[in-house]
Amino acid sequence: MSSFNAAAVDRIMEKHGDAGGTLIGILTDIQKEYTYLPREALRRVGESLKIPLSQVFSVCTFYKIFSLAPRGKHSIKVCLGTACHVKGAALILDRLRRDLAVAEGGTTKDGKFTLETVRCVGCCSIAPVVTVDETAYGRLKQEELSGIIASRGTEAPKRAKSARATAPKRARPARTATTRQRAGGSR
Ligand code: FES
Repeated sequence: MSSFNAAAVDRIMEKHGDAGGTLIGILTDIQKEYTYLPREALRRVGESLKIPLSQVFSVCTFYKIFSLAPRGKHSIKVCLGTACHVKGAALILDRLRRDLAVAEGGTTKDGKFTLETVRCVGCCSIAPVVTVDETAYGRLKQEELSGIIASRGTEAPKRAKSARATAPKRARPARTATTRQRAGGSR
């Protein structure tokens, strides 16, 4: 996560031009830069677009994709929709909570992961599903979690080390979360 840098915000503003209609695009790029929307950045956006800060905030709070608090470098989302729930998603969520030592909705102390839940990512046929950033992992087993986390550049959780011997070497990404149609899932 970067600390606030006015020049970085100005660069993003320049890229989008000064039309008010680009606000969502600007906020998306700022969030990519910082993992969240720093207050100073929002103030600068408001000044630059000549719109009240309250209006910028109302957009930030309306869309769930935006966060006003710092987030982890990687986003882990456990699907708790019906199909995933039936296939043991709650156990996977519990395992992640314990292994990462973070509560649902929280970010790990090292700032690497934010753990969240979602209701359905459209891949019900391969439940249970966990997404990490843009990748969806289907038919997931608890023992595979350590490998997935390690693949994002951090140490495998301690608890999972003993399970590794019997687990597949690497969990296979099922498909990206954006390929809902091919997955044939429903919401
Ligand atoms: S319920 Fe989990 S992908 Fe649909």
